[in-house]
Amino acid sequence: MDSEKTRKERTLSEDPERRPEVKRLQSRQPSPPVATGSEAQGITIEGLSAFYGSFKAVTDASMNIQANKVTALIGPSGCGKSTFLRCLNRMHEVIPGARAEGCVRLGDQDIYAKGSDPVKIRQRVGMVFQKPNPFSKSIYENVAWGARINGYRGNMDELVERSLRQAAIWDEVKDRLKESGMGLSGGQQQRLCIARTLAVEPEVILMDEPASALDPVSTQKIEDTMEELKKRYTVVIVTHNMQQAARISDYTGFFYIEHMGDPGRLWEFDATDKIFSNPERKETEDYVTGRFG
Ligand SMILES: Nc1ncnc2c1ncn2[C@@H]1O[C@H](COP(=O)(O)OP(=O)(O)OP(=O)(O)O)[C@@H](O)[C@H]1O
Ligand SMILES: [Mg+2]
Repeated sequence: MDSEKTRKERTLSEDPERRPEVKRLQSRQPSPPVATGSEAQGITIEGLSAFYGSFKAVTDASMNIQANKVTALIGPSGCGKSTFLRCLNRMHEVIPGARAEGCVRLGDQDIYAKGSDPVKIRQRVGMVFQKPNPFSKSIYENVAWGARINGYRGNMDELVERSLRQAAIWDEVKDRLKESGMGLSGGQQQRLCIARTLAVEPEVILMDEPASALDPVSTQKIEDTMEELKKRYTVVIVTHNMQQAARISDYTGFFYIEHMGDPGRLWEFDATDKIFSNPERKETEDYVTGRFG
């Protein structure tokens, strides 16, 4: 354990204002992620805060993300969901002036430890963005590209097919693999981007509102892929769609800002059934029942 972490832990446990909050949240957390026999890893987050310059966007979030489960992140706009998500694969620090504090462990590896390579972390923790962003290359190359860059030595045709199948788009594109990815519909492009992320063979997939710009049919297809994806991967999804969170996720984290100008907090984290049927906190209930936000 490095001295900085020791210092951080001491600060956390000695600060009387923060201690009850952390303790209470942790008491409802699922137990730390365990290996499940597949290669998927869980993520343990302890006391994570995220900054843009001097502005604190997320404060002191702790959460255990279980392997081979879908974890949904919900909450009003601006409460730090995307920021938190980007901290899980070291994409946050790519923004000039942005930094994170606290501990994020992928399996048993501290991803912020000195010497930890952000490029390798991003291979292990892939990300799908809100807006589909295929490359102006063929459908095949869109999927193969990342794997090739990583020096993939297996059968590329097989990898491309497997990834497209897992993303539930193989049947729609199998006869047009040489055509441009840009020629697909928005929903197809998003599933192509999921396939592209899978082809790098990550352990965790982060999705930031992947279906927010899609029609109900495409949204349904993305949701259908979740059930399949979690058999192999750990999935974290940000969504503004309450029904979607309730349908597809096993665990749900509710982010919230109590007062204007405060940083976003992980307000409540629990099994999705509990969050949607009997949450501990009034704000969570108000939010999931559509009374605000
Ligand atoms: N690149 C940035 N530079 C400065 N501040 C930022 C940046 N990105 C986000 N923020 C601020 O950080 C806070 C959290 O933003 P974030 O995008 O994480 O919220 P969110 O919960 O994902 O919101 P939404 O639901 O609208 O996507 C907001 O106050 C936002 O204005
Ligand atoms: Mg966001």
